[in-house]
Amino acid sequence: KEIFLKEYKKPDYLFDSVNLEFQLGEDKTIVTSKIAVSPGTEGTSSPLTLHGHDLKLLSIKVNGKDLKSEDYMVDSRHLTVSRPPGGTFNLEIVTEIYPQLNTSLEGLYKSTGNFCTQCEAEGFRKITYFQDRPDVMATYTCRIEADKTLYPVLLSNGNLIEQGDLQGGKHYALWEDPFKKPSYLFALVAGQLDCREDSFTTCSGRKVTLRIWTPGQDLAKTAHAMYSLKAAMKWDEEVFGLEYDLDLFNIVVVPDFNMGAMENKSLNIFQSRLVLASPETATDGDYAAILGVVGHEYFHNWTGNRVTCRDWFQLTLKEGLTVFRDQEFSSDLGCRTVKRIADVSKLRTYQFPQDAGPMAHPIRPHSYIKMDNFYTVTVYEKGAEVVRMYKTMFGASGFRKGMDLYFQRHDGQAVTCEDFYAAMCDANNTQLPNFLQWYSQAGTPTVKVSSSYDASSQTFSLKFSQEVPPTPGQPVKEPMFIPIAVGLVDSTGKDMPLTSIYSDGMLQSLTSDGQPVFTTVLQFNKKEEEFIFNNIPEKPVPSLLRGYSAPVRLDSDLTESDLFFLLANDSDEFNRWEAGQVLSRKLMLSLVADFQQQKTLALNPKFVDGLRSILRNTSLDKEFIAKAITLPGQGEIMDMMPVADPDAVHAVRTFIKKELALQLKDDLLSTVTNNRSSEAYTFNHDSMARRALKNTCLAYLASLNEPDTTELAFIEYKSATNMTEQFAALAALSQNPGQVRDDTLLDFYNKWQHDYLVVSKWFALQATSDIPGNVANVQKLLGHPAFDMRNPNKVYSLIGGFCGSPVNFHAKDGSGYKFLGEVVLQLDKINPQVASRMVSAFSRWRRYDESRQALAKAQLEMIVSANGLSENVYEIASKSLAA
Ligand code: ARG
Ligand code: ZN
Repeated sequence: KEIFLKEYKKPDYLFDSVNLEFQLGEDKTIVTSKIAVSPGTEGTSSPLTLHGHDLKLLSIKVNGKDLKSEDYMVDSRHLTVSRPPGGTFNLEIVTEIYPQLNTSLEGLYKSTGNFCTQCEAEGFRKITYFQDRPDVMATYTCRIEADKTLYPVLLSNGNLIEQGDLQGGKHYALWEDPFKKPSYLFALVAGQLDCREDSFTTCSGRKVTLRIWTPGQDLAKTAHAMYSLKAAMKWDEEVFGLEYDLDLFNIVVVPDFNMGAMENKSLNIFQSRLVLASPETATDGDYAAILGVVGHEYFHNWTGNRVTCRDWFQLTLKEGLTVFRDQEFSSDLGCRTVKRIADVSKLRTYQFPQDAGPMAHPIRPHSYIKMDNFYTVTVYEKGAEVVRMYKTMFGASGFRKGMDLYFQRHDGQAVTCEDFYAAMCDANNTQLPNFLQWYSQAGTPTVKVSSSYDASSQTFSLKFSQEVPPTPGQPVKEPMFIPIAVGLVDSTGKDMPLTSIYSDGMLQSLTSDGQPVFTTVLQFNKKEEEFIFNNIPEKPVPSLLRGYSAPVRLDSDLTESDLFFLLANDSDEFNRWEAGQVLSRKLMLSLVADFQQQKTLALNPKFVDGLRSILRNTSLDKEFIAKAITLPGQGEIMDMMPVADPDAVHAVRTFIKKELALQLKDDLLSTVTNNRSSEAYTFNHDSMARRALKNTCLAYLASLNEPDTTELAFIEYKSATNMTEQFAALAALSQNPGQVRDDTLLDFYNKWQHDYLVVSKWFALQATSDIPGNVANVQKLLGHPAFDMRNPNKVYSLIGGFCGSPVNFHAKDGSGYKFLGEVVLQLDKINPQVASRMVSAFSRWRRYDESRQALAKAQLEMIVSANGLSENVYEIASKSLAA
């Protein structure tokens, strides 16, 4: 059933307090829920409809009396009390559930012997009958009763107010959460867990106990997560004035989890990968992800929990904002430019294709069948870009004022994206015309720019036009508000002072405190608009969309030599990187055309020179260099072609890689040698940057598949003392099929088979490989004793990984499609959320040639017609076929 934003209605009844009791058992769990209900509007007598799924109803009472069977109705998704008493009343419901059989990892389930919950978005209804919607906010108590030996630790939200032993080897704990919350933030954990304990004293002097819970043997690997948590608590106080509001904060680690982590009030739950780390077993990428996600979940305490969403269409209100906050946190603790490049790359690699495909949706969708399908890169990452645009417009202090007003107005409420917009604008006494279009229009806007210099009037003009492409259900689009940060670079490579500008027939001064500025933000919110800079003494090279000031595709009239000039000179480091990327994309596209016409491929020497001088530039950040010499991904290039050709793109990217390796071999070799280090592993930007640069160069060299480069990679593999370098060397070696590859992969497995997170990496590395005919290897790995279809991590590594290799997933013979089609149906029976994430790999099937289209379409049709298909998979598969 499809649900629409425009059909939102307030709940008929409010829940003021909820008392839950769990009797956790080995074959069943009994849940008793006592709710204080009051009418949402005075004098309402409408029926009270509760959500419920996979529940066995044992009893239902109103004001202490059992309801007669004619007074309520139960169907597979609801329980309806036909005639609730007027005024406030007590509702008591007892249900029976079977967490041991729950493989969907939604609601209450067991993961390696421990009970845990995942309620967002609509999992609470698998625990008990409830108005399971975020605008129903209540205070909760939770009493947990369980066997004391099997489940010594009993956790829920808020404060522990009572605990004790019971007869029959059982014990109980009673938790109380003083803050009102929606049901999706409820959590319960019971099991054998140990904790690392620490504390944080907040700015107002509250001493908060911090605990990270995990099976005993993993305790040593929680140090970095604890560091990250304390850093996040401090950062939120310093940057946003936001303080933690309880005396206890728990994080629990579980191996089986559908998403990354969950921000349940004071009881965050994480999948292992995003907490557990040691230098020997986790890479720099893992360490960075842990920092970001621990921050993310902690930041939700204010953006998500204290102020929550009115309905699930508003998801980006909390997710876009919280992703923005975790991006800023990681930037402040690391290197801003490098983080920005990583975030923009992620947007381009994953979000742009979604925005251009059958699942395209605005950051606030208009409708959904299964909300779980809308925890997307669009809602999260594009949502974060939309929040970033407020900061670009209002500056750090204006943005802070907007945040302050947002909390002042809405603490304790469930609100909408308009409420956030209003707080931002009101706090800054401005409106942003057409800004709200970002919330309702899907598709990545294209911005075209043409420039001209007039020497006689010393003016420089930039003419912009914007085009938002049609998307499913939205054929025609309105212009949007697009902030464009611009600097003008003079012939010596310096930014010109900007003093005034003409637009819309108005002259506007650009000075700030009487001083000229060097970067200005143009407010482009019409179909077409011209901006004319005054007092420009020579023809500049414009540096446009600095810092990537809006999530658009920029199509400028910069020449190749302008781009090489910016690559070498732009003061905006993001745009330096971007100039290189634009050049690479152009180069790759033209080589793809050559390849398709069977011409011999040749690399533009200016391109090689450009990269060489970046590689040799010791004044640049090393991680920046690593990113600047990395070519755009295959997906990005396929996206720019009328018909995506995975074979051509792969061939061209491989050709350029090898050609660069050959021509820059000496520089690459010396960079590898100069960036070795015998220091103990440390998580700080300089060491990570050093490793990133070294590993990038090593991958280039190993692509040559020559005895000396293979030997070098092998030495790096053997001598590595941390996973970052060890895994990078393994990845470098495994580019080339053959004995060395096979032996090293086996050696690595033997070394790490006891560590399930490292084994996941090992699966992912093989799965994403571009070696010919890899589908057979992946098929074989499905039967590997370490693989487990019920563990999402392993599925994402192996199946998800495989779909990340365009040459193999889109193999001409359809073997990749057939593989995925079969796996999706198998997975759907176990875990619909995970199956639906996998089936998304098919969604852009129309981008390929006719024979691939037919093969992919056949798989989608097979899936849609399967018996007992979940709504999750149905939504993605049917929308992919329809668009
Ligand atoms: N709120 C969580 C986070 O972003 C994600 C929960 C996702 N749940 C789901 N069923 N898709 O931190
Ligand atoms: Zn989140």
